[in-house]
Amino acid sequence: MKDGDMELLLEVAKFESSVDMEKEYRIGWSWRHVRIWPATLSRLFKDGYLDNVFRSNSFTGYKLSEKAKALLSSNRQENLEDKETATQLKLADDLFTDIIGHEDVKTLLKATLLAEKPVHIMLTGPPALAKTLFLWDIEQTFGEQAIWLVGSATSKAGLWDLVAEREPRILLIDEMDKMNAVDMAALLTLMEGGRLVRAKRGRELDINNPLKVVAASNRLEKLSPELRSRFAIRRLNPYSRSEFLIVVKGVLVRKENLSGELAEEIAQKLDGRSQDVRDAIRIARLAPQVGVDKAISLLLGGETSTNRD
Ligand SMILES: Nc1ncnc2c1ncn2[C@@H]1O[C@H](COP(=O)(O)OP(=O)(O)O)[C@@H](O)[C@H]1O
Ligand SMILES: [Mg+2]
Repeated sequence: MKDGDMELLLEVAKFESSVDMEKEYRIGWSWRHVRIWPATLSRLFKDGYLDNVFRSNSFTGYKLSEKAKALLSSNRQENLEDKETATQLKLADDLFTDIIGHEDVKTLLKATLLAEKPVHIMLTGPPALAKTLFLWDIEQTFGEQAIWLVGSATSKAGLWDLVAEREPRILLIDEMDKMNAVDMAALLTLMEGGRLVRAKRGRELDINNPLKVVAASNRLEKLSPELRSRFAIRRLNPYSRSEFLIVVKGVLVRKENLSGELAEEIAQKLDGRSQDVRDAIRIARLAPQVGVDKAISLLLGGETSTNRD
């Protein structure tokens, strides 16, 4: 096989899967359809990668041979395996490194992401506990294989169509409680490995790799009992005071580029006044303009401490 032949066969396979070979192309396709020179096609035919289904003076019709199909499928398998190994390595090393603490949740999510069969996870709990960050990190690692949705914005294409179209392995749903009823209903079926019917071509689409769902929601009350029962619901508890100090310092240094000293100062001054990491971030952003104390009093209200410098 010559260099580049595999790419040609892939092109042809793509063409064949985009048309109805039984109906429209009973006598095969010609070089014009696939835009490959006749001489090249005739070489692929001689090598056994194409079957010649029809020949007249004006038309030579080909289709992929069984030999070519077998080659393409083993090639695809290899690619998948390579990708799989790469993802597993990344999972072990990189995933969630920007999240401070939450060690059990990290372990749980890594295990589910590596598991062969789906276990769906819902992260729940008060705001600013890194729930969205967990989903975001998974998306970064899985790229094309993951779809990220915010509950309130799924209605445009519709969840069902989106999944049928992109065939993701992982569905990440933030603010799950805001999802509309139609999408919620679709989700119920998807989570049980429901088969999808692609309406357009009437072709049934089997999801070989069943979908895994990782969702986040501040509140659970809005979710129906049958949806809740499909998830392992993992509650994130508010940070303790000592955890809050560590998280705030880490976030301010790593994400807001503050010096260790300034981050420490903000964390200490917020201790006992706020449990919300987002408060710390806002204060860090205003501090260069008005100083830490003033930023705290402006944002959180209450008395300004006067012992500055
Ligand atoms: N444990 C943590 N590690 C790193 N960043 C955190 C952590 N907890 C909160 N944050 C930060 O707090 C902010 C809010 O986090 P987010 O994931 O949006 O929270 P949630 O979705 O739970 O409301 C983000 O900027 C995030 O970086
Ligand atoms: Mg969030």
